[in-house]
Amino acid sequence: MWGFPCAVERLAEIARRRGLKLLFDAAHAFGCSHGGRMIGNFGDAEVFSFHATKIVNTFEGGAVTTNNDALAAKIRLMKSFGFQGYDRVDCLGINGKMSEVCAAMGVTSLESMSSSWRQAGGTMPPTGRTAGPPRAPADRVRRP
Ligand SMILES: Cc1ncc(COP(=O)(O)O)c(C=O)c1O
Repeated sequence: MWGFPCAVERLAEIARRRGLKLLFDAAHAFGCSHGGRMIGNFGDAEVFSFHATKIVNTFEGGAVTTNNDALAAKIRLMKSFGFQGYDRVDCLGINGKMSEVCAAMGVTSLESMSSSWRQAGGTMPPTGRTAGPPRAPADRVRRP
């Protein structure tokens, strides 16, 4: 949940020992950090949600982050039907492109992220539910 990343190192260790890929569901974690590193930098990839219930929203949609250039290139292809050029399809894909109006909504919500945070008194998750005093160590939530 927002501000409360999971046991990142323990999962990374299991993945390393077993030779597994590690993907994190970071749906709620936009703007959060763990051990001084922003969420989005862990595992093989992380997936954020920009659904309307999240602190940054584009109505629907999200983002995949990875530090693996080859994987990033593949994901970019896949989000646009696998099209490499005008009439060349390299792989299976989906229509995962963001429309302009959704992107505009995202920019607007990014701009209001600080005020949303302040309105919430810094102690509430973005869902608006009261969370009480912050329980996370300071490095887990980075103020926008
Ligand atoms: C933990 C978690 N993962 C994934 C999702 C799905 O996100 P989306 O609605 O953008 O597909 C949600 C939605 O709230 C969620 O809470």
